[in-house]
Order: sequence, then C-alpha cells, then structure tokens
Amino acid sequence: MASDGIPRLDDLGDVAGRRVLVRCDFNVPLDRSGEQPTIIDDFRIRAALPTIEWLTSRGASVVCASHLGRPKGSPDPAFSLAPVRERLAELAPGVELLENVRFSPGETSNDAGFVAELVDGVDAFVNDAFGASHRAHASVVGPPAHLPSAMGLLLQREVEVLLGLRDRPKRPFVAVLGGAKISDKLGVVDALLGVVDRLVIGGAMCFTFLAAQGKPIGDSLFEPDQVDTCRGLLDQHGDRIVLPEDIVGVDSTGAYATFGTRLPDGAKGFDIGPGSAAAFSDEIAEARMVFWNGPMGMFEDERFAAGTRTVAEAVAACRGFTVVGGGDSAAALAQFRLDDEVDHVSTGGGASLELLELGDLPGLAALRGAPNA
Ligand code: 3PG
Repeated sequence: MASDGIPRLDDLGDVAGRRVLVRCDFNVPLDRSGEQPTIIDDFRIRAALPTIEWLTSRGASVVCASHLGRPKGSPDPAFSLAPVRERLAELAPGVELLENVRFSPGETSNDAGFVAELVDGVDAFVNDAFGASHRAHASVVGPPAHLPSAMGLLLQREVEVLLGLRDRPKRPFVAVLGGAKISDKLGVVDALLGVVDRLVIGGAMCFTFLAAQGKPIGDSLFEPDQVDTCRGLLDQHGDRIVLPEDIVGVDSTGAYATFGTRLPDGAKGFDIGPGSAAAFSDEIAEARMVFWNGPMGMFEDERFAAGTRTVAEAVAACRGFTVVGGGDSAAALAQFRLDDEVDHVSTGGGASLELLELGDLPGLAALRGAPNA
C-alpha cells in the first residue's frame, strides 16, 4: 500500500479469472456534423489502455464504464457510447463497455441502487477516470465501498504529477492560466498563488483583471462581479501576476486590430498581442516547472490563434518540467502538433484544477475507504 492510503493495482491481488469494473473517462469530443457522431480525439481512450492491458494480461476480464456528455438521466442516443465502443474494440479487443452511466438518474445522485447494479457480478473495481474523479457520482465513489478497489495507472500518474506541482515545486515555477472566466478558477488561482513564482494570465479572463486596473476594455468579455476580487488579487500578489501588455481583436467596425491594454469603445479583444506572447514566452523559457491551463485567445479562429500558439510553442520548448491541463489547452497542443513535446498532458479539466486546489478528490477519498485499503 502506498503512503497516501490509496490502493494500487498490485493491491488487488490475483485478478486472473476475475471480472473487473474499470471506471474510465471516455468523455471524448465528438464531431456531430455527419449522420453518425465520430470521435475527434481518442486521447482519453488511448490513455486508459495501460491499465486495461495490465488487467487483461493477468487474466482478468474487463468491463469499462464511463459517462459521455451531460444527458439528463435517461437514455439519449445523442450521448451513446457506441462510437467509443467501436474505437475501444480496435484498441483493446474483448473489453466490454457499458452504456453511458449518466443514462441512469442514479449516477449523478450517487444512488445506492444504481451502485448495486454496477457492482453486481463484479469482483473488483479500478478507478482510472481521472477526469471524472472530482465528481462524487455513483460509478466513481460507489464501488469502492463494496469491492476490492485500486487506482489505475492513468489516475496514479495524474495524481503524482499534479500533487508534485503543488507539493514539490521546482523554481521558478510558472503557471499560465487562460480561458473565459476567472470565476471558474478562483479556487485554483488562490492555491497557485500560494506556490508559484509567476502567475501569467491570458484568455478572456485577463479583461476582468485589466478592468480591475481601471483600464477601458471596450466591449470585451469580462465578469463585472469579479472585478473587486481581481483588484484584491492584484493588490496582494501584483508583483507575481503577469498580465498582457497588448491585445488583438476587432475594432468597432469589426476590423482586425491590435491594441495596447486600453481598448477603445466598441472594440473587442480576442487574443493576447504579440508583445504579450513574447513576454509570456520569456517567463516560460526561464521556468523549471510550468503548469498551463486555458487558451490565450479564441484559437479556433486562425486570426486569434497566435497567442495560444506562441505559448504552446514556449511550453513545448521549455527545458523544465511541463504540465498542460484542461481540454481546451490539450486540444490546442494537439492542433499545433505539440502534444508529444510536453512532459504531461492531463486528461482532466475540472479534475486537474480541483486536485491542484484541494490536494484531494472524491474519487481518491473513496478508494482510501475500499475493503483492501
Ligand atoms: C470532463 O470532460 O472534464 C470530464 O469528463 C467531466 O465531465 P463533466 O464536467 O460533465 O462531469
């Protein structure tokens, strides 16, 4: 047993001939433009293979469970795991996959009856669904109360890497945060400010900080109710918070434009500017540890992709230990073909932020309570 009290795969004992339920996070992005949905990125499926192979090579029969999207607690063909089942059959023949656990209302309410259904006929449980381990849902926290359980190899690596950032930082440690809303990330911002040397902020959330500095931000997206909070963070930690020094977006006529940090009336910012991207890259280049979550701008639009691309390239080139978390930043890395150039791409979005913030997750706590723990 490891010192954190969470059982590992070895703690399951002999799995030969046993039926093992593996909770995975197969919540993959789907292209819904055709007749049948197709998988855009199978990263989360491939990430579960080492655990599945660990079990099958020792003679276990594996049945996987996952959610996909947010159906409303009843079967909905739009959220069927059928495309994932097809891909899984190619990658791991013979492995079963249950239908979307969120088709049952008992999943999100962690209903005892649904847990009983999940564990029926099963000998052991493995949680490898890092991306869902911040949810106290039936298929995540239920089975460890009934079955010998363990964390899978993917979950184990995620926990080691992310808690390593929190508890054993190498300095300088630079965190780069982007995305639309600061309100979603206040907890992790607080936690990161307790440990990082620099907190670099891009994405639409930077406009709430610029507004807190009293700068005009035109019609850019921002959160008026978070301005005071951002002002407080700047007052207390301003020497470590790095904000953009220029912005790219559109002017009041809708034409592409580059601004300083004061946007005229009617203008909208959609990306950090080239000066900011260069300054952010300098911070990243000097870091011995980097955590990046959230794009710097609306990178799906090529006109506003340069900031995210430059930051992605800087993270890829950094010689320190580099970790990227969050679906959007991972998708950006993949789009720029840089995903192999970072030390760890987390499969979790919300889960990676919550683990950094709190140092624990409901899915991990449940494993500590398993009968074999
Ligand atoms: C994710 O994609 O972040 C996880 O699969 C969790 O999905 P959820 O936010 O719908 O619980």
